[in-house]
Amino acid sequence: MPGASSRSTCWNHTHDAVSILAHVRPSFEREAGQELQALAREHHLFGHLRVMEGSGLCELVLGDEDADRLVASAPFVDLVFVRQWLVSIAQLRALVPGDRVSAIVAALPKQLVFDDLCVDSGDGDEGRRLGRLCRSITEPLRDALADRLVVGSGLRAHVVFTSGDSAYVGYAPVENSSAWPKGIPRLRLPRGAPSRASAKLEEGILWFLGSGAEGELRAGMSAVDLGAAPGGWSWSLTRRGLDVVAVDKAALAPELLASGFVEHVERDAFTFKPGNAVDWCVCDIADKPARVADLMCKWLENRWCRWALFNLKLPMASRYESFVELRERMTSRLGEHVVLRFKQLYHDRAEVTGCAQVLT
Ligand SMILES: C[S@@+](CC[C@H](N)C(=O)[O-])C[C@H]1O[C@@H](n2cnc3c(N)ncnc32)[C@H](O)[C@@H]1O
Repeated sequence: MPGASSRSTCWNHTHDAVSILAHVRPSFEREAGQELQALAREHHLFGHLRVMEGSGLCELVLGDEDADRLVASAPFVDLVFVRQWLVSIAQLRALVPGDRVSAIVAALPKQLVFDDLCVDSGDGDEGRRLGRLCRSITEPLRDALADRLVVGSGLRAHVVFTSGDSAYVGYAPVENSSAWPKGIPRLRLPRGAPSRASAKLEEGILWFLGSGAEGELRAGMSAVDLGAAPGGWSWSLTRRGLDVVAVDKAALAPELLASGFVEHVERDAFTFKPGNAVDWCVCDIADKPARVADLMCKWLENRWCRWALFNLKLPMASRYESFVELRERMTSRLGEHVVLRFKQLYHDRAEVTGCAQVLT
């Protein structure tokens, strides 16, 4: 990471351990920590985990250069439970309101320059109460760092408040971290959506397809929506011009059917077979995750779809282990011709979203 080697000389005076700090869904701190530990192990690194239950933050304490190396080299997009990450170089405590800005600036090594600055807090109850502080300190901090904000440096400075008088200070590589504060995309429920579930599909499309969404979801394509009612996901697909077969025994929103782009099939999604292969299969059925994973494998193995986007509910206990087991099972069944990715989206609760693409 740029600047990392010169950095160590500068912060030897601090007692703080260098760590990877992660933003996560509150109550999933342990799972995100397990994910970071597994990643560290893959790189032959061993870290000490600090889980802050309910805070939306977790921390993996590593050797000085190790946090830098891991955050610079392990692909952020592959992380499932971690929404955002940064190398934390100092944990400031007993900050007094008049001195917060100068203390934070002093904690950032002088030789580092940054593309940008992000000030936020965990997504837990305490962190949300700190939103106003984060907003109010951002501009004064930006002013104080003005001569060190240089576009193209590749690093983003981060300040993460954990209370009114304590904050983590660090940085993240712009290209290997989330562009959104706390890793949460700003998405509004599109007007006219028949259910709030639309926001989840929209976030999944944004996360997994990004700028490729226009090419991969476009007018004239076809989709099957398994477990479609009341129709938020189908509606999102029809908005993009796809023709949708919506499979659900429950009723769809009447305005969705009136659009003429949706055919309602009142059948069991687990036994439904499409007449012809489609571009997309989406599935939002709240059932046993192994059952949904098998259903998706069946669709992908039979090449009934080119793309699949689906939800896997996680069990109450051993959530990380259960997820890893399911992912391994799907990966080994689908083989190398299917690219499989997962993310716990902001709109996911005790679940993860998967996206699969058949390579042709
Ligand atoms: C969470 S809701 C889906 C919400 C939908 N994605 C939306 O955007 O409005 C789950 C749906 O799965 C349906 N479902 C559950 N088991 C099913 C099955 N075996 N076959 C078809 N639909 C099923 C339920 O009837 C319910 O409407």
